[in-house]
Amino acid sequence: MQLGVCYYPEHWPRERWAQDARDMVDAGIRVVRIGEFAWSRLEPTSGQLEFAWLDDAVSVLADAGLKIVMGTPTATPPKWLVDAHPEILAVDENGAVRGYGSRRHYCFSSPVYRTLSERIVSLMAERYAQHPAIMAWQTDNEYGCHDTILSYSVAARARFPQWLAARYGSVEALNEAWGSVFWSMEVTDFTQVEAPVGTVTEPHPAIVLDYRRFCSDMVVEYNRLQVDTLRTAGVSVDIVHNFMGLFTEFDHFDVARDLDIASWDSYPLGFLERGAHDEATKGFYRQQGHPDFAGFHHDLYRAMCKGRWWVMEQQPGPVNWAISNAAPLPGMVRLWSHEAFAHGAEVVSYFRWRQAPFAQEQMHAGLLRPDGTPASAWPELLQVRDELAAMAMHDDASAQIEAPARERAPVALMFDYASIWACQIQPHAENFDALELHLSWYSALRRLGLDIDIVSPCDDVTGYPLVVLPCQVIADDALAARLCSARNSGSRIVIGARSGSRTADLRIPDQLAPGALTALTGVTVDRVDGLRPAAEPALTLTNGHRGHALRWRDMLDMQRTTASVLSRFDDGEPAILQQNSVSYLTAWLDEDSLLAVLEAECRDADIATVALPQGVRLRRRGTLCFAFNYAPESRWLPDGLMPESGRVTGNQQLPAAGVSIWRSDDLNVDTNK
Ligand code: GAL
Repeated sequence: MQLGVCYYPEHWPRERWAQDARDMVDAGIRVVRIGEFAWSRLEPTSGQLEFAWLDDAVSVLADAGLKIVMGTPTATPPKWLVDAHPEILAVDENGAVRGYGSRRHYCFSSPVYRTLSERIVSLMAERYAQHPAIMAWQTDNEYGCHDTILSYSVAARARFPQWLAARYGSVEALNEAWGSVFWSMEVTDFTQVEAPVGTVTEPHPAIVLDYRRFCSDMVVEYNRLQVDTLRTAGVSVDIVHNFMGLFTEFDHFDVARDLDIASWDSYPLGFLERGAHDEATKGFYRQQGHPDFAGFHHDLYRAMCKGRWWVMEQQPGPVNWAISNAAPLPGMVRLWSHEAFAHGAEVVSYFRWRQAPFAQEQMHAGLLRPDGTPASAWPELLQVRDELAAMAMHDDASAQIEAPARERAPVALMFDYASIWACQIQPHAENFDALELHLSWYSALRRLGLDIDIVSPCDDVTGYPLVVLPCQVIADDALAARLCSARNSGSRIVIGARSGSRTADLRIPDQLAPGALTALTGVTVDRVDGLRPAAEPALTLTNGHRGHALRWRDMLDMQRTTASVLSRFDDGEPAILQQNSVSYLTAWLDEDSLLAVLEAECRDADIATVALPQGVRLRRRGTLCFAFNYAPESRWLPDGLMPESGRVTGNQQLPAAGVSIWRSDDLNVDTNK
């Protein structure tokens, strides 16, 4: 568990670097990321390479004992490059060029930009590959930030037909898979397929889905090019990329396959403003962030590289980019840091060392204020430093801290990018946001005190006591077979509405929804009831709880449904069904109903749950147990949860933004070790 920071030596006078490096070390920082936006300083004009200043910065940081993450600078191609090669720019859905003047102004498909990227990455790698202080390389910065995945440039349009040819083999197969006969959209050559923009009304959904897959694959290829270039130039240390929160525009599982470590940039307050929670929730958590936002992403990115993951950028104060930018409640920077470690992070690195007094992010806090003196997060950083040292000194604890990230949680939650795209392409009901739906299932389970592993649809889930699929729209026979064998070896499975409702080609399955999951669930969907905002059909659960559906309700063909109905809506429509340890929820349920349903499933799966007070969450890492209070007021942990002995920090009563950590060998919730 190490602390890090993002540092821009090129923003500060040379005379200050040594002091910065010393201050970092004194504050407990061991890892420093540099370089990711520095292209114009490394190559001010074409071919004029100026690496001396970076050599110098690397030496200063290394001499202070810091380990370095070197970022490749490709997120910010400089002006001379764009002027010489304007064809590298991305193009939006209206045909407008996404021009120079900020960052991320390139199209992933551009062969020219790929060549230029390979060149600068290779020059950097040849120079620094063997440097002993460089512990890792970061490829680019935040693929997709500022809406930059979908591009309709000449290069992208030229590449798409080739991608289709590789996927389908023949135009006949493509016409058949898509159902191109509809509205006379059959083609006789792959080059006739156009990017799905500028159409009179909605474009063909299967083309849209494939265009999204194609753009996702362009990111995979681009990232792989950087990884291969680094390796060819002799880089042998870890390679990492920093992903984002609330971002599903490309398949992160695919990109992460070429990385050693997945990392993400955690800005809990900015994302609270951007997220879907209601005004009351946003008000309550204004200075803390939603209690499940960071946890969800920690678990998502932990799923990517065999459990190896970092927080590359941690918010240390107000950000600059949300609708309104709150100052964190005192204690939250400490809480966010510990929470990441509790979920298995190897490194938590703050963005940024010192607030810039210039340019776009001058209102974005750092660990230091613009004048170089400590900012509000500083005392919290020092506290985390001391607490990590205290934990590491404890023999048992440090043994557990070394390699806990691959432990299994009792619950697996399935997450699939293509299913999320499918819902975006044909929402069918107002506000049906599949990412939000996944977050609500995650929240319900976390409110029950549970640790969660997020899994991809390709993962083997055998051995999990409980497997949940909130919205697995695209399901195939292989997935059904894996779920079936998990069920046969004792897993309980809960499947949400809309699952299995499309094939990989975005067609309604031959046997109707839930398609490949029909035999497993024992249900057949007859039709769908899209629910407008005020339409909320009421239901009663088996324990008498009254709740309602929102946004979506599957209505079943009861002639073909073999599962037993456990709960119904007031109008008689089935809400929850069950067959051989597999439950099917026909609707998007309100938060409390979902919690009640999942609590009952946990009981049946022998997973112990805890009723946590509002805003409190738990997480186990080895024998360490962490409790976090996201509420702006104090909270008590349930009696008996925190033993008298083994306390590392904190008490049963958690102040606002409080953290309690204790050691426990009796972690009954984590039943699967
Ligand atoms: C991230 C980005 C950083 C910085 C930060 C501000 O998205 O990687 O470069 O812009 O946001 O919050």
